[in-house]
Amino acid sequence: MPESSSPRALWGSRIGFILAAAGSAVGLGNIWKFPYITGNNGGGAFVLVYLICIALVGLPIMMAELMIGRYTRRDAVGAFRTLARPGSPWRLAGWISILAAFVILSYYSVVAGWTLEYILRAVQGAFRTPATTGTVETAEQVRALFDGLIESGPRQLLWHFLFIGVCLGIVIGGVQKGIERWSKILMPLLLGLLALLFVNGMLSDGARQAWVFMFRPDFSKLTSGAVLEALGHAFFTLSLGMAAMITYGSYLSRAENLFASGLRIALLDTVIALIAGLAIFPIVFSAGMQPGAGPGLVFQTIPVVFSNLPGGNILALLFFLLLAFAALTSAISLLESQVAYLIDERDWGRKRATAFLAGLAFLVGIPSALSSNLLQHITPIANLGVFDSIDLIASNYLLPISGLLTALYVGWFWSDQEEKQELMADGSVWIYPLWHFLIRFVAPIAVGIILYYKIEETGL
Ligand code: PFF
Ligand code: NA
Repeated sequence: MPESSSPRALWGSRIGFILAAAGSAVGLGNIWKFPYITGNNGGGAFVLVYLICIALVGLPIMMAELMIGRYTRRDAVGAFRTLARPGSPWRLAGWISILAAFVILSYYSVVAGWTLEYILRAVQGAFRTPATTGTVETAEQVRALFDGLIESGPRQLLWHFLFIGVCLGIVIGGVQKGIERWSKILMPLLLGLLALLFVNGMLSDGARQAWVFMFRPDFSKLTSGAVLEALGHAFFTLSLGMAAMITYGSYLSRAENLFASGLRIALLDTVIALIAGLAIFPIVFSAGMQPGAGPGLVFQTIPVVFSNLPGGNILALLFFLLLAFAALTSAISLLESQVAYLIDERDWGRKRATAFLAGLAFLVGIPSALSSNLLQHITPIANLGVFDSIDLIASNYLLPISGLLTALYVGWFWSDQEEKQELMADGSVWIYPLWHFLIRFVAPIAVGIILYYKIEETGL
């Protein structure tokens, strides 16, 4: 029997779905990006704005995406095609989101590959506190490790290849036997590792300073750029605008309360980002380093700090394993969103669809892996390299456009209120009207504003 005529997949259990969806949400965005943008934007006030963006914009759009998926039981393109009139331009919303998933997977996998290099280095003992050599020298060596990696095209290609290969191995197993099964293994491991690193942070000298940095807002440090960054990150971190929540929602049973599910996923994502900050900043402060180190915070500052701590090599190993697991469960959702399209809309079998798209993701990621070496003089957009140009197009345009279309569709064009209310399946009287208000007004206006400023800023 061809795969396409078997009944469409469903999650095996509620916890399986929550772990898979939280696995999609919790990724490099939480553990790599959130701490460094918080550091760059001065801490507390930025964190507060970020939390507001999650609650007022991210959460309502997350529910809208889950709703679209569960109602139509289709991939993102099929979902919009089913919902809107035949031939209507809303199909485009589905296309843009799948395109975003495709583009983002290609370079997300390159960064995820870096974590594999660090795991290998930790296994080799590269972050061990030296008994004989001075710490200054070690710091230099550890810092040089990152430069050596990004200057090497072949190494990055190898890791990128391996990482995509692992994603392929999981997604090919299907919704229950691949994604759900692995999420149930990887997510508890991730939580355990994070808990260990959090306790380690809390026991270190910089703990108090880290709490103050993250939770005492200093509004004089808040710029309008920081507000835009917070809103953009709220999108990325919750996996919105990339077909992932539509696709994962499409495997969700009708019996589930969608409001509660969305809330759980967003809460897990938020709590994990905050805990990652509370694991990282204390050790940065203890070592007398600066929180605003930028993207190198996790790949340069942190390893240097580890190399100066007793037992730091083990901490480094745990930390990069954590990062790799987080990246893996996110990347599989990006791959699955595209696989679902080929299965649902083009009648492909899962094996062929997964192998084809993983291969394509590898090929399309090659320029990103070579962006900091072989192709370093190529600047497609303004003075940005290949990697940054692709990231700019995906996160500044594709995501907000697809988020805006989703909010507009669900808020204004999906006119059957009873249907939406029933889908939400929450008993309380105020949740539905509140959500409907946010999805109609607050979310589209906020996303429209980011889009406007991004276009203004880059002049594109
Ligand atoms: N939410 C992920 C993160 O915070 O790293 C990134 C991501 C994964 C975005 C999967 C979108 C997606 F579909
Ligand atoms: Na996230």
